Amino acid sequence: MGLVSIRELLAAAEKGAYAVGAFNCNNMEIVQAIIEAAEAEKAPVILQASQGAIRYAGINYIVAMAREAAAQASVPVALHLDHGTDFNQVMLCIRHGFSSVMIDGSRYSLEENIAVTKKVVEIARAVGVSVEGELGRIRGTEDEIKVSEREAFFTDPEEARRFVRETGVDALAPSIGTAHGRYRGRPELDFPRLQKIRELTGIPLVLHGSSGVPDEDIRQAIALGVRKVNIDTNIREAFVAAMRRELGDNPGEIDPRKILGPAREAAREVIREKIRLFGSAGKA
Ligand code: G3H
Ligand code: 13P
Ligand code: ZN
Repeated sequence: MGLVSIRELLAAAEKGAYAVGAFNCNNMEIVQAIIEAAEAEKAPVILQASQGAIRYAGINYIVAMAREAAAQASVPVALHLDHGTDFNQVMLCIRHGFSSVMIDGSRYSLEENIAVTKKVVEIARAVGVSVEGELGRIRGTEDEIKVSEREAFFTDPEEARRFVRETGVDALAPSIGTAHGRYRGRPELDFPRLQKIRELTGIPLVLHGSSGVPDEDIRQAIALGVRKVNIDTNIREAFVAAMRRELGDNPGEIDPRKILGPAREAAREVIREKIRLFGSAGKA
């Protein structure tokens, strides 16, 4: 099978009331871990690459790995640009064969965000590529947020309605209290806000910063309309912990395969658990 768009994966998730896992990849071992996990769980899956991942691996390697993965896999695989912050970067990904892109205009004013997102949707739609937009600011865990600042950071449901209507995005990433990276305490998700955003937009929602969010909160978010769940940090943790363990146990080891092989297995197991949690196991 070739790469599929997230539009079709999320439409099926909508019907089945589950979420598709979107897992960040930076190298071959992580791509393989994601695909092995999806195959083992018979789940549709989204490989996603950030601008940093593209800088690290090179766009041609990322696309070649994803294409090969999709060609070999018995489950549907999408390749999605994660947090494309720049119009030109998004266009480059479309030209190189990404089946889906995120345009993250969240640092702009509402008007500017709508304008750039709309432009991307028009072009992407013409070539069968799906688009995720972001509204509100999803933090990094280094940013502590005061309750009084919530309104400034979190997505306003009325603005979300306007954003979706005017841009035509296939999926929306709202800011409802999650953050990228490791949490210091328990994250506090604003479920009433999520519910309102879903009611007013009616489209598949995306949960960012999902590593470290308790399982019951992930389930609740899916019950309220989240159809794509992004995981990066938990994969990094598992991958690097296994590398550390192998290096610690075998300080004389010089064969990278002996270090990276177990890291790939550890990442695969974490991803399998996530897929089961999201309800997408057996849905391919
Ligand atoms: O949303 C952020 C992802 O975890 C990607 O992180 O920009 O370090 O690749 P990165
Ligand atoms: P985490 O690293 O917190 O899992 O977030 C991933 C993400 O949202 C990628 O866009
Ligand atoms: Zn994100």
